Amino acid sequence: MQHTLFDLKGQDAEIADEISEAVSSVLASGQFILGPESKAFEAEMASFCGSEHALGVASGTDALILALKALDIGVGDEVVTTPFTFGASGGSIAWVGATPVFADIDPETLNLDPASVRRAITPKTRAVLAVHVFGLPANMDALGEITSEHGIHLIEDAAQAVGATFEGLPAGSLGDVACFSFYPTKNLGAYGDGGLVTTSSEELAGSLAALRAHGSLSKYVYDSHGTNSRLDDIQAAILRVKLSKLSDWSEARRQNASIYREVLSDVSEITLPAEPAGSTHVYHLYTIRVSDPDDLASKLADRGVGTGRYYPLPLHLMPAYADRGYGVGDLPVSEEACRTCLSIPVHPTLGSEDIFEIANHIREIVHSRRI
Ligand SMILES: Cc1ncc(COP(=O)(O)O)c(C=O)c1O
Repeated sequence: MQHTLFDLKGQDAEIADEISEAVSSVLASGQFILGPESKAFEAEMASFCGSEHALGVASGTDALILALKALDIGVGDEVVTTPFTFGASGGSIAWVGATPVFADIDPETLNLDPASVRRAITPKTRAVLAVHVFGLPANMDALGEITSEHGIHLIEDAAQAVGATFEGLPAGSLGDVACFSFYPTKNLGAYGDGGLVTTSSEELAGSLAALRAHGSLSKYVYDSHGTNSRLDDIQAAILRVKLSKLSDWSEARRQNASIYREVLSDVSEITLPAEPAGSTHVYHLYTIRVSDPDDLASKLADRGVGTGRYYPLPLHLMPAYADRGYGVGDLPVSEEACRTCLSIPVHPTLGSEDIFEIANHIREIVHSRRI
């Protein structure tokens, strides 16, 4: 059987009627921007994330840029983050004029290593931007200790981690401000671009509300320089339908992950994703590590299984950061993760039989390489 890495069509088919109804009702309302669906979705997301405020924006990238702007981070400032992530985590820091400083990751969780973060902090550091990579929260206790000690901000890039928890608290409530993406393949995906920022700070929420609307809170009065970055009501209505299913979908992902663990944990050539005690991983991606991921990927493709390399090159070695003077070997754990990572299908439309089949393909391929 064919198993793709993502299955948007399969998931959408299950909810097609509810989505059509939701979209039709927005069309009938004639309210498309910051209307009732957006407001209702923001309230539901604030409650889901255990945060006082939630503000819809145009994308996860805008969520990061606007969060940095709201914290008044810009030229002359440094922000410490991970290089083992999607481009927007570092790019948004550069886009506001600040300097991304990369710290290394923990070899088990693949999230920021607090000891490396501590070493990366300088008098210019204004924030740590923690990415909950693949859906596993970073060690927010240890990172929070560092940011409190230095009087700097802790930002969550929770683009991949909606519904994840750390010590019982949801992603979105673990720092000063958190950023989500609703890119279609995300666990909570829109039918286009979308994003959201959560915060429990009244002041930050006010700044964000102005920044996403040209710096204006009352019509045609501009208190600051903002932009146009809103989540529209059609996307909000779609996301409300999907949010009501999200806990079930996350559970299905976790169930799939537990089957992989059952079948693959004794295959010594493969490192499975870690799930530290006290954290709930939502497996946006199920990323294993093997010595030759490209070979395994091509043999899985021959058997109809789709995979992805998240991420083949760390940000500090990307051409965009050449002027920062990083070289190979500077962040060895991140570089090793990039050399070995391979994401395999875990999405919620896969049932246990599908996962057993994929896991058995992997076992067979790895065992055949031993001979
Ligand atoms: C970790 C991370 N940060 C930020 C983003 C940016 O989100 P968007 O594509 O909605 O701009 C993404 C996803 O694309 C992501 O995976």
